[in-house]
Amino acid sequence: MTDHSVIPVKPELAQGNRVDAARRAEMAERAARDPEGFWREEAGRIAWMTPPTRIKNTSFEGDVSIKWFEDGVLNASVSCLDQHLAERGDQVAIIWEGDDPNSDSKVTYRELHERVCRMANVLRSLGVKKGDRVTLYLPMIVEAAVAMLACARVGAVHSIVFGGFSPDSLSSRIQDCDSTLLITADQGRRGGRTVPLKTNADEALRSCPSVKNVIVVRNTGGGVPMEEGRDHWWHTLSEAAAADCEPEPMSAEDPLFILYTSGSTGKPKGVLHTTGGYMVWASFTHELVFDYRPGEIYWCTADVGWVTGHSYIVYGPLANGATTLMFEGVPNYPGVDRCWQVVDKHKVNIFYTAPTAIRALMREGEAPVKKWSRQSLRVLGSVGEPINPEAWLWYYRVVGDERCPIVDTWWQTETGGILISPLPGAVDLKPGSATLPLPGVQPALVDGEGQLLEGAADGNLVILDSWPGQMRTVYKDHERFIQTYFSTFPGKYFSGDGARRDADGYYWITGRVDDVLNVSGHRMGTAEIESALVAHPKVAEAAVVGMPHELKGQGIYAYVTLTSGEEPSEALRKELVAWVRKEIGPIASPDAIQWAPGLPKTRSGKIMRRILRKIAANETDSLGDISTLADPTVVEELIGNRVG
Ligand code: PRX
Repeated sequence: MTDHSVIPVKPELAQGNRVDAARRAEMAERAARDPEGFWREEAGRIAWMTPPTRIKNTSFEGDVSIKWFEDGVLNASVSCLDQHLAERGDQVAIIWEGDDPNSDSKVTYRELHERVCRMANVLRSLGVKKGDRVTLYLPMIVEAAVAMLACARVGAVHSIVFGGFSPDSLSSRIQDCDSTLLITADQGRRGGRTVPLKTNADEALRSCPSVKNVIVVRNTGGGVPMEEGRDHWWHTLSEAAAADCEPEPMSAEDPLFILYTSGSTGKPKGVLHTTGGYMVWASFTHELVFDYRPGEIYWCTADVGWVTGHSYIVYGPLANGATTLMFEGVPNYPGVDRCWQVVDKHKVNIFYTAPTAIRALMREGEAPVKKWSRQSLRVLGSVGEPINPEAWLWYYRVVGDERCPIVDTWWQTETGGILISPLPGAVDLKPGSATLPLPGVQPALVDGEGQLLEGAADGNLVILDSWPGQMRTVYKDHERFIQTYFSTFPGKYFSGDGARRDADGYYWITGRVDDVLNVSGHRMGTAEIESALVAHPKVAEAAVVGMPHELKGQGIYAYVTLTSGEEPSEALRKELVAWVRKEIGPIASPDAIQWAPGLPKTRSGKIMRRILRKIAANETDSLGDISTLADPTVVEELIGNRVG
């Protein structure tokens, strides 16, 4: 089957869908013709203390200013909790499935509301006020959702740091936003192993004087030191707190959270999302893209440390009154059939995961999947990286028994929620394509000079106008926001991705066109890995590029020049891999390190990454022009010593 094959909507399966092809077209037309009217109505999906009268006030020009629903007043935790109590207080809000298949729990909306209120009172009692930053460094436990919503309830801005990040990565993220409080756990559990969260946090906090209080969840019970006056047990504080808590009235444009993400240069930047537009977007897209129907069980396998966990484990599903499944573990523990076992156990209707997981499970064959019925499944989703047609078809055929539409959802931390995706039952599918924009989203392709490309074309993916879920700024650095997203193609939001559009107007995301890698769906800047490497005393220079990787999508290929007098060795290679893991976290471990006595540079000293990428990908017969290099002989040397 070529990638142009079409899998048409199956009308018998689309029955009962909220949106069919005609309704989708109608929505897209209305959103384009009358954005104010369209978004005024959609804003009604969340709970407002004061509904907005001013809807859209955005400009991609000059200083770039993005405001949605700006005179509205709300609290995100009310939309996720209080608004459901009357109708579905006893419905399960969160199903928690532990790393250990014998441990799970269920929390109703009423219970979740109470737990959030208690923790919100705790935060207030520790002096946390509206606008203060609170960092969360937590495993995938219910307390993570409680902590997020408790911050939202008191108007604090949460910044979640993925539990797989190192103490250094944690401290730089705390320092950047001056958090006054950290919420962590004794340890996390993943794939049968423990993650030393509190120990990492203690190390990080040595360089974070802004943090005055640490709340520690007793999760595994593994003993951890508690610092008198600074560290408090979650359960002790929350048991003592009142079970009711007045939500802080927030303006729609008050910040809800910061989430650090990697770019092509410098340190990770604090992507800032605000309250009103983000909540509308999370709710709108969760309902449309997954065709979410009341009473259904929805499972997104992401971690709350990434944006997917924010929008599609917590805020979107809870705003929509869904039952959201939170999974502590990994897809291959204790066996490679874990996902399907969980699907059957909890009767999951909607399953949302990453291509890297699908590829890994595909390698194990069909038997572990077929062992389970998966009869409850209705919609399957994919996110985080391009999905190759083979993996798409396996997901469709083997996991979904050709019964479940696949929604390949394209979006980014910056976009707050999904922008390009099929809607189940409304859009014909093509394996490997994210298909069409959602109503209200205006993607376009431009060439290197910023000229708009028409019809079938290949180019840089930009968005022409704002949507409610868009990030508002880089925390404390609006100039960087403008520079990063609006200066390459002035007046347009530049995603950093390349894409192809076919004759049917379908988008095929081809991957990043900047120096950002996507390793197993995790986004990483080459510059970050390079600076970790050169921080090692034996490294003089390093250049990092992506290389094709069967499972991870992209692997990390590092060229390392040692300081004079140092000799390459297997021991040093291992030491450098361990060093990067310690500096950034295990997700940044280089897959290959090539010793490079010299790097290909232009006469002005700029490293020609294009050449390094070609060598890493073993495409050395198409290196292109190397005549502008200061010393073309280094290329021969690098080709001769390619790793792998
Ligand atoms: O390159 C695109 C890729 O992931 C990047 C965004 O990464 P992050 O901000 O970490 O958010 C990941 C979860 C939304 C994008 O610039 N990406 C994400 N979804 C897709 C994708 N590439 C292709 N197809 C997708 N469905």
